[in-house]
Amino acid sequence: MPNQASKSFYVTTPIFYVNDAPHIGHAYTEVASDVLARWHRQRGQNSFLLTGTDEHGEKILRTAATNNTTPQAWADKLVTEAWLPLLETIDIKNQDFIRTTEPRHEKNVQKFLQHLYDTGFIYRGEFEGNYCVGCEEYKTEADLMPGEGAFAGESVCAIHSKPVERLAETNYFFKLSEFEDKLLSFYTENPKFIQPESARNEVVSFVRRGLTDLSISRSKEKFDWGIDIPWDDSHITYVWFDALLNYITAIGYGEDTAEAKAQFETLWPASVQIVGKDILRFHAVIWPAMLMAAGLEPATQVFGHGWLLVGGEKMSKSKLTGIAPSQITDTFGSDAFRYYFMKAIAFGQDGSFSWEDLSARYQAELANGFGNLASRSIAMIHKYFDGVLPAAGAFTADDLKVQQIAADAVLTANAAIDEIAIQDAINAIWTLVDELNNYITVQAPWVLAKDEANTERLGTVLNTTAEGLRALAVLLNPITPKATAKLWSALVGDDSLDAQLLDNAGAWNQLKAGSKIGQLEPLFPRIETDEAK
Ligand code: MSP
Repeated sequence: MPNQASKSFYVTTPIFYVNDAPHIGHAYTEVASDVLARWHRQRGQNSFLLTGTDEHGEKILRTAATNNTTPQAWADKLVTEAWLPLLETIDIKNQDFIRTTEPRHEKNVQKFLQHLYDTGFIYRGEFEGNYCVGCEEYKTEADLMPGEGAFAGESVCAIHSKPVERLAETNYFFKLSEFEDKLLSFYTENPKFIQPESARNEVVSFVRRGLTDLSISRSKEKFDWGIDIPWDDSHITYVWFDALLNYITAIGYGEDTAEAKAQFETLWPASVQIVGKDILRFHAVIWPAMLMAAGLEPATQVFGHGWLLVGGEKMSKSKLTGIAPSQITDTFGSDAFRYYFMKAIAFGQDGSFSWEDLSARYQAELANGFGNLASRSIAMIHKYFDGVLPAAGAFTADDLKVQQIAADAVLTANAAIDEIAIQDAINAIWTLVDELNNYITVQAPWVLAKDEANTERLGTVLNTTAEGLRALAVLLNPITPKATAKLWSALVGDDSLDAQLLDNAGAWNQLKAGSKIGQLEPLFPRIETDEAK
């Protein structure tokens, strides 16, 4: 288990390239990380979500040049117009946002580099090889394939289908090869470091095949959009070496103030680093080796999630298959976006997005399953008890079953989140949604209401459904925070939802009998089918 209830929870997203605007693949990583952060916050932990942007490198420089502007101006524009607004669009509650062009990052990357140079982990050498600007990665022959069409006769990157650059230059190397055995022992001693299991096996076999030293600088003769190597300003830092360090520069690495040191102590090592499987090796091989070289602990866990696919291929802007997150949220709202991607795809596996599936789940699971449960339960308290929460009388086996299912849902969902199995956590919570719907059908409050002799029983039933909704508001708050805030406001009338401890959600009799129940705003409004694409 990566974390106990008492420790801080630090979760990171990859930092995003600013060469283009976000698509739903990027938003997917953000939502998963945010759900985990909110979940741990709801458990009363000091939960810290870091996200940000990766702004250096040849790719950004080229994009800026194509747009007749400077890379800094381009990055500023994309961050303000696209990447920060994305956080609003999908309702991300991050504690910090780091940009790699900020002084707090640049100067501490230099400190880190200088430290590794002084301790002999970085040396000067001759580099000869291939580089893919799309991947911002050095490529071996095995990573290339014969080009087609305009690139026939050339070797192209297997991912981007574009020619690679041939580099032959003097630059600086990180002694990655020295960490082969140390990494393998680390993986053995920390079997959950790389998750899911399939990703772990892939990384272990990669390291077993042998590691070569990594070129970590580029000569400024070629381009200069990056952080200067501190002891040799004719070179800039390789963009990945620069980018990976964001996870520690954002939380105070290299700073001398007591506050920064305390923050670093509290948060590092990160509890979990969420990344797409395409960038897992950087995070599970190079990054822990960099940290080991600097005498720092690697993160507790790195989780490599799958891809959103279009036509069987990774959704990507460069292949023109990217869908903007707002295309979905404008119609369905941010809660539905968050719920859908976490529920429909097992975290760790690839998944295909379809408008039909989204629409169907919105209607069946969110609008009918959860939204309708909440609206009719609350409407009945208004209709039969003038909007005052009735007290519960003696509980029957059916009532106790609801309570048991709520208590079990809390335990099962917590255990699932500890395994980063977000889909399983939602399934556990949904056992309570389904049970409450079933309970209402069986108890038939509208029948009880016909006879005054049943008033106490009717009160018990509606009290039970209200308590069940209360538990659902807490459990679903990390996933659908807008809907749960509305539900909480109707049930309790204040904004104390975020302060409710998730582990207590299954305990009964928390709502005050006799308190006024408010009106419920529709949680998942009806969507006209022509709008739903
Ligand atoms: N800048 C690097 C990361 C540096 S972290 C120190 C980078 N940026 S990226 O913008 O290209 O990708 C960011 C994340 O988005 C990656 O985790 C990547 O896997 C994820 N995704 C990009 N397309 C995706 C899908 N189609 N589906 C799911 N995630 C995808 O890599």
